[in-house]
Amino acid sequence: MDALLKQFERLKRPIDMVQTLHDRQLKEVPARYILPSDQRPVPAIEAPQSIPVIDLAAHHSEIVTQVAKESQDWGFFQVLNHGIDLSLLERIKRVSKEFFDLSLEEKRRQCPVRPGTRMLEGYGRFFDISDVTVLDWVDALVHYISPPSVKAVEHWPKTPHTYRETYEKYGEEVLKLTDKLLGMLSEGLGLDPNYFRTLIKEPLLQLRINYYPPCPQPDLVNGLRPHSDGNLLTVLIDDQVDGLQVRKGEEWFTISPVPGSLVVNIGDLLQIISNGKYTSAEHRAVVNTNQYRMSVVMFLNPQDDVLIAPAPELIDETHPRLYQSILSQEYGTTYMSKDNRGKAPVEALILS
Ligand code: OGA
Ligand code: NI
Repeated sequence: MDALLKQFERLKRPIDMVQTLHDRQLKEVPARYILPSDQRPVPAIEAPQSIPVIDLAAHHSEIVTQVAKESQDWGFFQVLNHGIDLSLLERIKRVSKEFFDLSLEEKRRQCPVRPGTRMLEGYGRFFDISDVTVLDWVDALVHYISPPSVKAVEHWPKTPHTYRETYEKYGEEVLKLTDKLLGMLSEGLGLDPNYFRTLIKEPLLQLRINYYPPCPQPDLVNGLRPHSDGNLLTVLIDDQVDGLQVRKGEEWFTISPVPGSLVVNIGDLLQIISNGKYTSAEHRAVVNTNQYRMSVVMFLNPQDDVLIAPAPELIDETHPRLYQSILSQEYGTTYMSKDNRGKAPVEALILS
């Protein structure tokens, strides 16, 4: 909690939203956004037919095998026939865009940044804004979606008025999808299909809408700095503008989702529970000069007080235990770059 309040204090210092910088029609990005030359996003490789596409309407055992394989190799995959109405996805994009199109004052008035249960919520800039960090070219809206005990609808956008019902519906659908995926991810490890479900108890779902305005010098900045997600499982709606990249080995690959698909990635907690079998891959977002880009990201977390540790069933003489245990709420969401922090939290938990 201390860390949360500290972060909150820092965020109170005046700092321009990226949208404001964009509205000023700057020809050059301010110095605080410019990355050292060795950290700039070099052109990424186009991933082979983008990242793997998994058709969730295929035969169950086939999907389980595929989900497990891609979670191991890439830590990312996209799903088709995910069971969520495409018209709902379109509505989500529309209501989100309508909120970001409001004036700055209105967005701040409707969704001021404030400490939520386990993270800061609201419309603002959500990463470590210390004096030394290079800033990311992104604004965001963050709030909980579920369960009812943590979702503070009074702080959700009121404009457009359909925002709430649209996100409540989408939240239910995402929980159904992640429940299904967790079952398959358990099975893919040879565990009981209910292993993850039982472990996480009542899941906590967080939303982050990333809004990346066009940038005059996209090659010098991060849209979103390299990071891995600190939760269990992430479901992302991408729009038609490329920007998301995933690291595999030493290379960065651009993810161009096929229309109608959702992008799914493994978070740090699943890497720990799977004893390193599944990969929480490092990823980032890059920006461009002429188009805004928006992504709608749902983070699935366990309930508080769940002990996160490698599943005992996955440990034997040839597969020694790789990670220490940690309580779910102690592992906060991380947007720290591995470079900035030295070590990602998951690496800090590796047993020597
Ligand atoms: C995130 C994230 C990627 C994107 O919000 O954690 O990785 O494309 N977003 O916006
Ligand atoms: Ni992420």
